[in-house]
Amino acid sequence: MRRVAVLLVVVMAVAGFVAFTASASGHADQKAAPYVTQIPAGYRDWTLVSVAHEEGNLNSLGAVLGNDVAIKAYREKTLPYPDGTIIAALHYKNTPSAENDKVFGRDQSFVAGPPTNIQFMVKDSVKYAATGGWGFGHFSPDGKPADAAFMSPCFPCHEKVKNTDLVFTHYAP
Ligand code: HEC
Repeated sequence: MRRVAVLLVVVMAVAGFVAFTASASGHADQKAAPYVTQIPAGYRDWTLVSVAHEEGNLNSLGAVLGNDVAIKAYREKTLPYPDGTIIAALHYKNTPSAENDKVFGRDQSFVAGPPTNIQFMVKDSVKYAATGGWGFGHFSPDGKPADAAFMSPCFPCHEKVKNTDLVFTHYAP
């Protein structure tokens, strides 16, 4: 009986320690991640906000999508965007389409080629207070998040449009 009691105390102590370290490290993780390191679930099914084309080195085609909170805020022109807003920018290589050009009879068609990256802006005014309430995220097509150095220019540039709560893309009707 005594042995059982001792064993019970040991088991409880171990369980307590595990719970303590788990919550401590969970807390530390949250503090250590000033940007988004996990792709938000379901983003590919979100609603279109607008499209964009970048020339220069990027030569990309982009589709900007918003989750339900984002789309509601966009349509009702709510500023600042409420917590829970997520905006996604899906980028592709801007690629001439020989297939389409053949039908047109001349070179004029450009379509989404291979994906180049996916970017996110996640609104959480507490968690991302240091970057205007937005968590920035950048992922390669295979889902790998960018490192801290890569992420450092996101906020300073987006901060230039304070009047639209750091969001560049306008809603395309
Ligand atoms: C030099 C300025 C600049 C930097 C640096 C920058 N962006 Fe942007 N971003 C823009 C502009 C301009 C747009 C709108 C045009 C477009 O979509 O191409 C945009 C659009 C976006 C959008 C769509 C929502 C919106 O604001 O229009 C997201 C999401 C985004 N950027 C995320 C990021 C992330 C993540 C980083 C860092 C890895 C980053 N941006 C770095 C200028 C910048």
